[in-house]
Amino acid sequence: MEPKLHFATRAIHASQPSDPSTGALIAPIYQTSTFEQEGPGVNLGFDYSRTNNPTRQRLEEVLADLEGVAHCAVFASGLAAEHAVLHAYLRPHDEIVVPLDVYGGTFRLLNRVFAGFDLTITPVDTANLDAVRAAITKRTRLVWLETPTNPRLIVSDIRAIASIAHEQGALVVVDNTFATPVLQQPFSLGADIVVHSVTKYLAGHSDLIQGAALARDAAIFEPIKFLQNAIGAVPAPLDCWLTLRGLKTLELRVQRHVQNASRIAGALLAHPKVKRVYYPGLANHPGHDIATRQMDGFGGMVSFELDGSIEDVVAFVSNRRLFTLGESLGGVKSLICHPARMTHASIPAERRAAAGLSDTLVRLSPGIEHPDDLITDLIAGLHAVDVPRNELITA
Ligand SMILES: Cc1ncc(COP(=O)(O)O)c(C=O)c1O
Repeated sequence: MEPKLHFATRAIHASQPSDPSTGALIAPIYQTSTFEQEGPGVNLGFDYSRTNNPTRQRLEEVLADLEGVAHCAVFASGLAAEHAVLHAYLRPHDEIVVPLDVYGGTFRLLNRVFAGFDLTITPVDTANLDAVRAAITKRTRLVWLETPTNPRLIVSDIRAIASIAHEQGALVVVDNTFATPVLQQPFSLGADIVVHSVTKYLAGHSDLIQGAALARDAAIFEPIKFLQNAIGAVPAPLDCWLTLRGLKTLELRVQRHVQNASRIAGALLAHPKVKRVYYPGLANHPGHDIATRQMDGFGGMVSFELDGSIEDVVAFVSNRRLFTLGESLGGVKSLICHPARMTHASIPAERRAAAGLSDTLVRLSPGIEHPDDLITDLIAGLHAVDVPRNELITA
């Protein structure tokens, strides 16, 4: 038997032979809506690109390989992938357990798009196993995990939660966007379904929107796959090809993102204008031990509380030289965000406060630039916070 290939090798070789008809090293983009049929219903495995497309199929095979399962469906966005999973598994009056600081778009999907379902949505501190155990009932259909969470970077024990959820007959969905399969393999820890905002680290270059849903086995996957075609929120072949290209450098990029995040977390920790740093790699992070066990690196994201007013935060995030103010994360170019006013603005203020998501929280998505330059940019911004406001205005 051939030895199993390493992650970095599979990202380049899995399902990616040279094109058999031309020898092209890199497979072409099958930019077509439909396929010629030899006779009615007689085709080469493809009939219409909403249902299936060769470029998309290749991407699905590579992503499945990297997450260690056989089943993947890609979608036009991360939220479209989440929608398919929720639609496949939630029935009226079901219960779903979600992290306290679940991504705002997931929260909106559950509360607004599924409003007619009369769901019981139970936000829980998923880092606290007793709280998770208490929240799951016989009516809980799904336990939704993000680990690390967006933006507080709370770490949850996937293996322990999967075992608690499975005892009650609930399925465990892990949003693996922040960790990526380079750092965390949720299926090996007991997850049933994994979702991704491919938009982020997987595609990696901030140039497309895409999502993925993967499942441990065929029976769990089947309704999700059905909805991919039936609802039709599918990505374009060009975007699938771009993700295939991005995946080839995923491991290298993620390693650099992690190095940069770790250096930045250390620099912020030492700064008097920073009240608190959230990074699972810090020994005082409450999820540090679990992250050490369940991840192969502490992730590329860093969040922190600025010691200042909300105006100071706005000035800080708006005036960086290298950190561009913008939604999203996981690209090669650094991004900065003010979750309370941006990514998490769709969560009501009281719920944000209950989740510990303060108005002075800043989220950083360090890119793969040189860490010294990124740190210099952040320190310059923190220095400006020290300057009295009237000086700032007249300067
Ligand atoms: C953790 C997480 N999950 C899901 C999504 C949704 O993905 P998309 O924006 O690709 O629809 C996001 C987007 O920011 C996210 O951060």
